[in-house]
Amino acid sequence: MPLQDIEFRIRYFHEASDEYLMTLGVDRKLLPKPDAWRTIHERDYERPLPERESYALLWELDHRPVGFSSLDRIVFGAHAFMHLHIVDEPHRRRGLGTEFVKKSADVYFQVFDLERIYCEPNALNVAPNRVLQRAGFTYLFSHETVPGPINFRQVTTRWVLERP
Ligand SMILES: CC(C)(COP(=O)(O)OP(=O)(O)OC[C@H]1O[C@@H](n2cnc3c(N)ncnc32)[C@H](O)[C@@H]1OP(=O)(O)O)[C@@H](O)C(=O)NCCC(=O)NCCS
Repeated sequence: MPLQDIEFRIRYFHEASDEYLMTLGVDRKLLPKPDAWRTIHERDYERPLPERESYALLWELDHRPVGFSSLDRIVFGAHAFMHLHIVDEPHRRRGLGTEFVKKSADVYFQVFDLERIYCEPNALNVAPNRVLQRAGFTYLFSHETVPGPINFRQVTTRWVLERP
């Protein structure tokens, strides 16, 4: 995702309804203000790949952005955690999520020389749990945790994909 498209990612969270954020396991109060969030990303984009805190891919359909994936908790050459969001409801449940998860993972394995990729959605969020299984991830365990800086405490399911 080029830095100039970072607004797409920031707006997605800030414009979401409370109910939608709840499904994602995200606490609105923990979202950085848009300007501050942009600055966080600008600083991160300046870092060399092995030092990046996060990395993102913008997914397009017919040259229009429809979703994005992000990677964080990156340990270069070892492992990282991925996320995927299809922004508009009409584009969901058409198989795009499965395709984008597979294609994102291919990129992450290559760019960060990863051995394995984890994904850890909210246990009650059915869609990503179905998609991860379909995309070839293996279920590891469920636990109660705070999975990230914008999340509230919740039960999550951890899935893993090993480097092919
Ligand atoms: C999660 C998400 C990326 C999945 O993408 P998608 O394009 O809708 O998923 P697909 O069309 O590839 O569906 C794959 C499977 O999941 C199932 N599925 C997808 N959404 C579902 C839902 N809301 N409820 C039940 N099953 C669902 C599909 O029926 C399909 O099942 P199958 O393998 O039996 O055929 C998308 O729904 C999304 O962006 N949701 C909102 C954001 C989100 O929750 N992101 C995850 C944060 S970790």
